[in-house]
Amino acid sequence: MMRWQIKALLMVCLLGACGKPLPPYEHGLTDRDIAFLQTFSIDNLPALPEAPDNIYADNEQAALLGQSLFFDARLSANGLVSCATCHQPEHYFTDGRKRGLGLANTQRNTMSLLTAAWGPWRYWDGRKDSLWAQATEPLEHPDEHGFSRAQLKALILRHYAEPYSAVFGSLSKEAHDATRVMVNVGKALMAYQRRLALQPSKFDRFVAALGQELAPAMSARLTGSELNGLRLFMGKAACASCHNGPLFSNFEFHNIGAPETDEAKVDLGRYAGIEKLRNDEFNCLSVWSDAPESACQELRYLKSQGPELVGAFKTPSLRNVAETSPYMHGGQLASLADVVDHYNAPKPPFYDRAQHPSRPHFDILPLGLSKQEKAELVAFLKTLTSPVPDNDAWWNPR
Ligand code: HEC
Ligand code: HEC
Repeated sequence: MMRWQIKALLMVCLLGACGKPLPPYEHGLTDRDIAFLQTFSIDNLPALPEAPDNIYADNEQAALLGQSLFFDARLSANGLVSCATCHQPEHYFTDGRKRGLGLANTQRNTMSLLTAAWGPWRYWDGRKDSLWAQATEPLEHPDEHGFSRAQLKALILRHYAEPYSAVFGSLSKEAHDATRVMVNVGKALMAYQRRLALQPSKFDRFVAALGQELAPAMSARLTGSELNGLRLFMGKAACASCHNGPLFSNFEFHNIGAPETDEAKVDLGRYAGIEKLRNDEFNCLSVWSDAPESACQELRYLKSQGPELVGAFKTPSLRNVAETSPYMHGGQLASLADVVDHYNAPKPPFYDRAQHPSRPHFDILPLGLSKQEKAELVAFLKTLTSPVPDNDAWWNPR
């Protein structure tokens, strides 16, 4: 027996099917298809992006402090709201609600944090350019934590003086005014979120097995309908034109005609987000950033006008998407079947001359998928779920 055959037999034995070799596996993919699919594998996720604007981004003590703060509800006006109230680890750091609920209802659907360290922009409208700048917003927002900078500084002094000083220097120094403390809390929360890692999903195991000579284990095989769904995703349905790379996102902004959450008060998305980002007290060019001006190219050369920005939102990652309903920036669509129905026969974006600066672009075309094809696409999306890790301390409160 050849060596690889012995190995294959061993694998089969481990799977409890000893003596019954796995049948050959017809996936019909060419070498070119396989090379293309590998660009979507979590194994090809690049290293964490550099973060010149946060010198603590990869500091372990800062990450541990950030982990404690992330789960601490004392950082709120009523003592009940923490980051984890809306970003729940067991729900892939989302909350299952249409729109996030802190002290009051927020305007948008809670995003997962598992892929948030990648891509240049944060939030559905990209109004923040770093994870640390982002973290300052929910802390102060009256619908979320509703905590003031002064309250935050007092809390850090009382409960976190030691771990804070160990990373950022003594709190008694004048340099640590309330804004500086909030910025540093943001930088610690960023260091924490950069530690959140994803394990391979069924899709990743499938792609990994394609590159090997061995007959793939059952857990690395896609069913016929999952495989058809994958073909549709990459081909006829053109999902991969925006949802691509190991995180299934191009990190750009598009208007795909998701229904308005309130037609009397339209959400301008990226169009308004850019203005907020430019004026943000904590952007890359601000005094609170650790980056030299030359490291803020994305911000300096931002395109700020154009109909393609109107009502456009950030392409979300599709990793774990089956577990993070409801969908879209306002939680407008309840299920993956609803999402696929929307893409299959989309209505053009709502347009109201009085509210919109110009007619929104429409970035997708009707697909003409059959009922079966729609179901196959959903079956494929379900293969993108990674297990909730049971031995990764970063996913849990300290
Ligand atoms: C009340 C619920 C709520 C709380 C509390 C909350 N968030 Fe969020 N989070 C949201 C919502 C809703 C969005 C999307 C908002 C938007 O795009 O306008 C979001 C978006 C984000 C994003 C952007 C992710 C991306 O891919 O762009 C990050 C990062 C984040 N939150 C981190 C945090 C941190 C850190 C805290 C604690 C300081 C926190 N959140 C507290 C609801 C919440
Ligand atoms: C033109 C780019 C583009 C194409 C093509 C595209 N998407 Fe999207 N997708 C987006 C954007 C942008 C959003 C967020 C839109 C919003 O919230 O208004 C989104 C949202 C989603 C969501 C919701 C995710 C969440 O966390 O709420 C799913 C699921 C999804 N797309 C699946 C697909 C599938 C399946 C296809 C192919 C049929 C597809 N997309 C094609 C850009 C695209």
